[in-house]
Amino acid sequence: MALTVRSQLSNANLPLAPYPAYCEVTNTEQSFNLDVAGINAAKELSDSAEFLGSALRLEKGDAPHTPEDNAIILSLDAALNEGYTLTIDANSARIIGGDATQVFYGVQTLIQLAQSLGAKLPALKISDTARCEYRGLHLDVSRHFFGVEEVKRVLELMAMHKLNYFHWHLVDDQGWRLELDAFPELVQTGSQRPATVNNHTLDRGTDLDNIPHGGYYSKQDIRDIVAYASARHITVIPEIDLPGHSSALLAAYPSLGCSNARTAPFVQTHFGIFTQVLCNRETTFEFLTTLFTELAELFPGPLVHIGGDEVKKLHWENCPECQQILRDQELPNSKALHGYFIQRVTKILATLGKRAICWDDVLEAKNLDNSVKIMSWLGEAKAREALARGHELIMTQSNLYFDFYQSLSIDEPFAIHGHAPLKGVYNYDPLQHSDAIQGVQANVWTEYIDSMAKLEYVLLPRLAALAEIAWTPKEKQSWTDFKQRIPGLFERYRSLGYRVADSVYVPEFEVTERSSQSIKVAVHSEFPENPIRITTDGSRPTLNSNVYQQPVVITEPTLIHAGSFSDDGTAAYGVAPLFVYPHHAVSCKVIARDSELQLLSVDNLDKLTNGLPQQGLRFQHADWALFDALNLFYIDLDLGGETKFSNVSVGFDGALGRSLYFPLSVTLLCSLDGQNWLEIGPLQPSKPAGRWALNGLEHTTHFLRIRVDNQQTIYSYEDACDVIPPLYIDEITVT
Ligand code: ACM
Ligand code: ZN
Repeated sequence: MALTVRSQLSNANLPLAPYPAYCEVTNTEQSFNLDVAGINAAKELSDSAEFLGSALRLEKGDAPHTPEDNAIILSLDAALNEGYTLTIDANSARIIGGDATQVFYGVQTLIQLAQSLGAKLPALKISDTARCEYRGLHLDVSRHFFGVEEVKRVLELMAMHKLNYFHWHLVDDQGWRLELDAFPELVQTGSQRPATVNNHTLDRGTDLDNIPHGGYYSKQDIRDIVAYASARHITVIPEIDLPGHSSALLAAYPSLGCSNARTAPFVQTHFGIFTQVLCNRETTFEFLTTLFTELAELFPGPLVHIGGDEVKKLHWENCPECQQILRDQELPNSKALHGYFIQRVTKILATLGKRAICWDDVLEAKNLDNSVKIMSWLGEAKAREALARGHELIMTQSNLYFDFYQSLSIDEPFAIHGHAPLKGVYNYDPLQHSDAIQGVQANVWTEYIDSMAKLEYVLLPRLAALAEIAWTPKEKQSWTDFKQRIPGLFERYRSLGYRVADSVYVPEFEVTERSSQSIKVAVHSEFPENPIRITTDGSRPTLNSNVYQQPVVITEPTLIHAGSFSDDGTAAYGVAPLFVYPHHAVSCKVIARDSELQLLSVDNLDKLTNGLPQQGLRFQHADWALFDALNLFYIDLDLGGETKFSNVSVGFDGALGRSLYFPLSVTLLCSLDGQNWLEIGPLQPSKPAGRWALNGLEHTTHFLRIRVDNQQTIYSYEDACDVIPPLYIDEITVT
């Protein structure tokens, strides 16, 4: 194994993740030689001893070794409580844990040291304990199925990083993955879909791959995985997502739905949030009682996740039975019906000796009691609400959505959207609201993760950052120290055969000055020792491209590319693009108006005039202003004074990876006083694709108005009906 890390060894950068609470290299002259070591473990620690022996390819010594003759000694000391110590000197490596789980964590630390440093370990002392009780990883096996051996590989990675809860998202609209004897249709019908959408559900003209996708775990598979997890001190939390995200369940047992559902339920081929929902009638809860009774026997852990996220109430609102229940229970609205449903399932679980966890969507119901544990993904305000309402809480906010992109590189594999870089994971503090928060979890939704290689890519190295914020005391966390450990971590992961994302090496852009004349762009990298090379002619940087020295001042439309080059100078880790476009409207005042010319509240309006048109980039919601379900609207620009202009253009397309909708027509109007408007003419689709333009004008104006006519409908897979298409708009350029 690689020894490159040894030469840099110091107390701050032992090649460990998560980093221990306390560690010290006690004697740089002394080392312990694993090549001649045997393991001496108390009987109740034989699992850990075997784990260690096979990881390090050591024999578990039959004859007990003593500290004097090259022994790795595993023992218990209840006084250590929730912690372990690892002490290495020339003769022994001694792990003492408060219990068997703590010894297992000590063993993981020793394995990491050996895998990074080789057989000769430095004399050191580690004293360690976890920051958070709950350190979780979620895996969605509905959108794409992962087999038993693949799930075990994920559990291996979790164990390596001292994570202790595996949240297994077993069912969703696109497939039911759990075999239960009482309900054979769950897997016979619910585990198969005929095809999967290509690209995103919201794309213009989506098509299907026509490749059937399926798979499920037999009860034996479940027992196998639960035992495998348990041997690694990981508790499995199964998730049965209710009452929404239930298309696959309803495809198997349609009688669980509201009788007024407009379309027969089927296992979804598209991704999104669908109207399919379980009915609140009594027979649903009878079904769920049988289901959870059988499930409870398979999963010995104390927790069952019952989802509760993204519930569309359309069917409930039109269902005579649900409406009758609402009246009988004196509930004010369908949100309270959501609370009623969750409360009923919580009670079923309680009779089985289990606690329910739900996504924080369920807080919309004010009639929910606080016995439900909350998993917060909807933002920090929701997390604070959960605490204020007395719920136990686990944090899984968007920094920890491992299905999001890891960098802005054009080389990133296709992902759902969003941006969750390594540094964002590391800098997230799950205990920011209260020390009473139980812990933290990353979520891996698999709409666009369809292979083990891609799954490893999204996990590594972000899993190390997750582990560190979950395990290492806050005062010991340091992005700078963590960064120093990254080359060693990557080397270890790769030597163990895992695929790792290099995204942390990709440069990032920062606009430092912005005007209608020029835009100044700085380029940063987390690894300044690696030269950044940039181009401004649209080409991909090579070894011959200029090394970035200082911010560049852009005065005309320019596509910048920046890449960070590795030590040997042969390869870019990934190339980030930025299209920069100074024009008359940069940073000008923008307002949106509805069809009656009343002010309209729209997020991200500033993105329309930030001088950064989206072009050839992957899609991120935050880069676009969304005009949702609007037949007709206006966008007004105040150029700040009378301005001569010739060309106007508007962007409607996410380009690579996202094809959004076009309006019916776009019209340009001008005004000198903001009161009297002159219609100039229609914009037409032009180049690059998705940009509509009107060129060759000779006008002077103070105000510009863009009228967007969107009197059209598209079929919505989510709503199962025709809707007005959402329009995502970016830069409005004026030159
Ligand atoms: C979620 O991301 N729907 C919990
Ligand atoms: Zn109903």
